[in-house]
This record gives sequence, C-alpha cells and structure tokens, in this order.
Amino acid sequence: MADKTIGTQSFATATIKKVSKRLRWAFIGTGGISGTHIGAIRQIPEIEIVAGCDIKPERQVWFKQQPGCQNATTYTDYNEMLKKEKIDVVDVCTPNGVHCPAAIAALKAGCHVIVEKPMAMDPAECAKMCDAAKKAKKLLVCGFQQRYNANTEMFVRARDAGMIGDIMFVKVHALRRRGIPNWGVFGQKKLQGGGPMIDIGVHMIEAAHYAMGEPNPIAASGMTWTYMGDKPSQVVCPWPNWDYKTYTVEDLAVGQVRFDNGAIMQIESSFCAHIEQEIHYWEVMGTKGGFNSLNCNIYTDMAGTMLNCASSFLPDAGWDGLFVRKIQNLVDAILKKTPLRAPGEEGMKVQKIIDGIYRSALKKGAEVKIN
Ligand SMILES: NC(=O)c1ccc[n+]([C@@H]2O[C@H](COP(=O)([O-])OP(=O)(O)OC[C@H]3O[C@@H](n4cnc5c(N)ncnc54)[C@H](O)[C@@H]3O)[C@@H](O)[C@H]2O)c1
Repeated sequence: MADKTIGTQSFATATIKKVSKRLRWAFIGTGGISGTHIGAIRQIPEIEIVAGCDIKPERQVWFKQQPGCQNATTYTDYNEMLKKEKIDVVDVCTPNGVHCPAAIAALKAGCHVIVEKPMAMDPAECAKMCDAAKKAKKLLVCGFQQRYNANTEMFVRARDAGMIGDIMFVKVHALRRRGIPNWGVFGQKKLQGGGPMIDIGVHMIEAAHYAMGEPNPIAASGMTWTYMGDKPSQVVCPWPNWDYKTYTVEDLAVGQVRFDNGAIMQIESSFCAHIEQEIHYWEVMGTKGGFNSLNCNIYTDMAGTMLNCASSFLPDAGWDGLFVRKIQNLVDAILKKTPLRAPGEEGMKVQKIIDGIYRSALKKGAEVKIN
C-alpha cells in the first residue's frame, strides 16, 4: 500500500485506487519489452514489482533504475530468484527460446505466469507449459495484446450481433519493407524459433484468430524464403547493420491454414518485403459482411445498398494502454476470478498455425496436418 503515501492525502484519495492485495510481481528477462510492462504496471495499483532477473548485468542495473523497481531485488539466475523470493506472478520477457523453461520453472514454484508473445518455440513446448499450469493449478496467460485493440473489439461486437455471418476467409498481413531487427537475437532461429512469421506475424494472427472465435487449425501449407537478412547490405534504412552473420531465420513467409469449421486464414509476413510500405492488418470475409482492421470498416448490404460502415468513435488505448489491458486481465483473473482472454491453450492454437506453415515450408509447401 506504499502508493497511498504518494502526494497529499486528497491527491492520494482521488487518484490512487485502494487495493486490498498487491500481487508480488517478478520479471524473467528485463530487456526492451519489459520496459513497456513496467510502464503499464505503474497504472495498475494491484501490482508491486519485487524482483527482476536478467543474464546481462547491465539490464539488471537498468531495471533497478525504473520507477517502481528501485526496491526490487535483481538476479542473474531465475531459479535462484524463484527460490529466494515470495512471488505471485512471473512475467517472462526473454527471447522465445527461454519462454518455456522459464514459465515452467515459475509455475512449478507456485507462481502465475504471463509470457510474452509468441508463447514458445513450438506447440510441443506450449503443451508442456499448459500441463505445468494445470498441475500447479496456476494461471498461464500469453501476452497477446492485439485482441484488446479497439478494432478487434469492434469486429467482435459486429460478429456477435450477426453482421458478419459465417466467417469463411481471413487475410493476415504483417509486412515490413525494411525492418530486420538490429538488436536482440531476432535473427537466430535456434533462440527464436523463426523470423517474421513467429515474431511479427504472430500479432496479426492472434488478433485475427481471436476475431474468428478461435477455431482449431487442422492443416497448413506455406513457404519461407531468406534472400536479404543473411547478407551485408549498404541500403539506407531505419534499422541498418543487423547481424547478418548470425541470421538464420526467414525474410518472408506466406501460408494458408485450414480450420475445423471450414474457414481459411491466409498469412503474409516479412521483415523486408519489396512493397510500397510497411503494413500490419487483417481482413475478414463473412457470408453477411466483411471487415478491414486498418480502416475499421464493416462492408455489408443494407436496404438494397452495399454499405461501407465506419465507426464514428473508437477508444484509442495506445500502445501502452494495450499492455495495461492485457496485464490487468491477468490481475483480475487472479483477484476476481474473471476469465482470461489469452489463456495458454489459445497461445498454443496460435503457435500451431505458425508451426504448421514452417513445417509445410520444410516440405516445399506441401500441406501438413495440424493435430
Ligand atoms: N508484445 C509485444 O508487442 C512485444 C514487443 C517486443 C518483444 N516482445 C517479445 O518479448 C520477448 C523479449 O523481447 P525484447 O525485445 O525485450 O528482447 P531483448 O533482447 O531486448 O530482451 C530480452 C532479455 O532477456 C534476457 N535473457 C535472455 N536469456 C535469459 C535468461 N535465461 N534468464 C533471464 N534473462 C534472460 C536478455 O539478456 C535480454 O535482456 C520476445 O519473446 C519478444 O517476442 C513482445
């Protein structure tokens, strides 16, 4: 309840929500994205950050300097942190290859877990994580935020009101013109599981899949190509000098996934596509209406006319606001027993979509089954 002492009593009463319990929160991985989580947590009074672990000493120093983290203890080894600290929730913000072991260790230590996207390297890891959560009777949530976006929520309202009909076809685009990450380990397949499909495609896939009502994927076909990231480049671009020598992921991945309800999702994702400009959005074609997440238009027929229906108001949570919402969803699920919007099981379905395309690419694009 330390927050209650901030400012004058009247300020505190007016602005600081009184909470009966604060969840003791710890990070595994205090790199780039943990900063967005820490910022979001400052707006969630039910959380107290108590610890942070990173294998890099300089990230531990950075973490301790963040508002709200000054009293937290830092560690290099997450097993030591889990042993020494009394933690309610572990927030896994490491490269993808560490998501599964870190999440399972935290669940076994009796903590709830939020794990950044993608949930893991592959569906087998996701299954192990879900099993561990079940055994520990703890919550496991995947840090998907696009389902909290106002455009996704607008679509879901329209869908539930019957404006879309049956969803037949969904197109997902996550394409950068030149955006090969020049930090972290995003170009290393054995640490990340893949390139743009698993790293940025996952955002639009999770939103579109949520919009579809989370059907089960049953088969996939797709192809991946690497033509730029593994070579030096002199081209002027916003993120130059990526580590081409360690680059082992795809530059471009495209694919198609079939679902058990007959619907099809088509996906295009790239770090460096030769297109006019970067674009991230998804489109739906239903029997009664369609939707475009970029302009938030619903396309339908009404009173004998083909209509493009635009909203006149949608709340804009902003980037940070989406993180507040995804973290608050877990907090509410723990404290008020409200439903999770991105439980581990959903993270696993999204992972199966991505994995299906990667497996098909290894078979030169032949369709592969998804179990
Ligand atoms: N939701 C989003 O929009 C979003 C955005 C960016 C990144 N991410 C995800 O967040 C994760 C991290 O990405 P980032 O951009 O912060 O990367 P990053 O490289 O900046 O940070 C990762 C940190 O994890 C640390 N780390 C690695 N192995 C560790 C271990 N065994 N124990 C403790 N710490 C360890 C690294 O030292 C590093 O500081 C990735 O899975 C990424 O996909 C999500």
